[in-house]
Amino acid sequence: MAWLRVLLLLGSCSLAYTSDYAAPRYNISLDLPPEERWKPVIEQYNFTELHQYMNNLLSVIKNHWSKHMYYIMADIYLDFIAHEPYAGEIRGIAKSLGLKTSEVTLINLFYETVMACTSIIAETEEGYIYHGRNMDLYIHTDLRKLRKLVIDVDFIRNGQIVYTGTTFPGLVGLYTGQSPHKFTISANAREDNHYLWKNALSLLLQRYPVSWLIRNTLNNAPDFDSAVEQLSDTEITAEIYLTVAGTKPGEGVAITRDRDGLADTLNLNASDGRWFLIQTNYDRGIPHPAHDNRMHFATQAMNSTGQENINKDSLYKVLSTFGVIKWATIHTTMMSAASPEDYLSFIRIADETLKTTRISGVYIVVKIAGVQYIFF
Ligand SMILES: *[C@@H]1O[C@H](CO)[C@@H](O)[C@H](O)[C@H]1NC(C)=O
Ligand SMILES: *[C@@H]1O[C@H](CO)[C@@H](O)[C@H](O)[C@H]1NC(C)=O
Ligand SMILES: *[C@@H]1O[C@H](CO)[C@@H](O)[C@H](O)[C@H]1NC(C)=O
Ligand SMILES: *[C@@H]1O[C@H](CO)[C@@H](O)[C@H](O)[C@H]1NC(C)=O
Repeated sequence: MAWLRVLLLLGSCSLAYTSDYAAPRYNISLDLPPEERWKPVIEQYNFTELHQYMNNLLSVIKNHWSKHMYYIMADIYLDFIAHEPYAGEIRGIAKSLGLKTSEVTLINLFYETVMACTSIIAETEEGYIYHGRNMDLYIHTDLRKLRKLVIDVDFIRNGQIVYTGTTFPGLVGLYTGQSPHKFTISANAREDNHYLWKNALSLLLQRYPVSWLIRNTLNNAPDFDSAVEQLSDTEITAEIYLTVAGTKPGEGVAITRDRDGLADTLNLNASDGRWFLIQTNYDRGIPHPAHDNRMHFATQAMNSTGQENINKDSLYKVLSTFGVIKWATIHTTMMSAASPEDYLSFIRIADETLKTTRISGVYIVVKIAGVQYIFF
């Protein structure tokens, strides 16, 4: 029975999930004081479940050195160092939820350590740009519950959508976002072995958490080029990959970031045959691990789709291809800055299928700096 399923999968090469559904959508008013902005969203949710999910995220840093040290540092950080409006929004969320500000701060700062993802930018023959991303979460928890918490958010000022992004209730930063008619951004984690310690130090130096820099950029960069410049040059707290897409031919770039500057950058260049860019969680130019070679599977799928056939649906299919989508994929977000109304995150219900069709039948659990990662 299991073998039959594997054969069927390989035959079609792309998984169809009839149960995928659009994430709920909310407005956040930027005209309100930061402390009050998220309350209407948070109130839509079951607090018991939100507390459970927050505790799951917090468990990432539990057992790592002294939890108490982190809590004390988090409060000092929030009171003296954290940038506005994010600090104010975190305070408001903690108050609405009845949690400690230090807890909500820690969740906001260390969420990216559990995130692995695939981002793809593609340019059609007509020069139209698509940007899609899978968000995969490697955290020891019931992913089916986490999936129910994904939200798309429109940030509104004076009745206009200033930018749009995808997050969870309680997380104020964005790892996926769109500035309408200008650009779209997605972030993928870039790990190093000592990130928690180095991230904590960088935070105290008042560097930007990546997800806050992304919100700043969405809020104030006037165009694609300025966005790329801000995202390339601003000092940040963690290494990261940033994929940025614009509205014109050639406006697509995969940026590899060190904490204090650019490590590598690669542009779309259709005339040179580079009509798509793929970013996973590994540097270019080095072999990607065999157990997680999403780059290979995604490249193959893009090649066989072909530039003449690329569109919103075919890019979604690529992101749903076996080897690209993972058991841990929470959502797939599709966007095109030129058509901002198309911004949409789909909740993926892939976990059980992918677990039962795991070809090798082996999974590897790796513990890095107290954080457990599971690779399939
Ligand atoms: C909230 O979630 C908990 C745990 O899943 C459940 O027991 C409780 O009934 C829920 N409360 C409401 C008001 O739905
Ligand atoms: C969100 O704000 C926009 C722009 O002001 C408005 O058109 C829309 O109806 C609002 N949506 C909700 C769900 O309130
Ligand atoms: C694109 O590639 C062509 C051919 O290699 C090169 O001449 C051109 O400068 C490149 N364009 C950009 C914007 O890098
Ligand atoms: C994709 O196509 C390019 C250009 O033809 C080729 O160099 C590359 O090897 C192909 N990759 C895969 C994985 O099919």
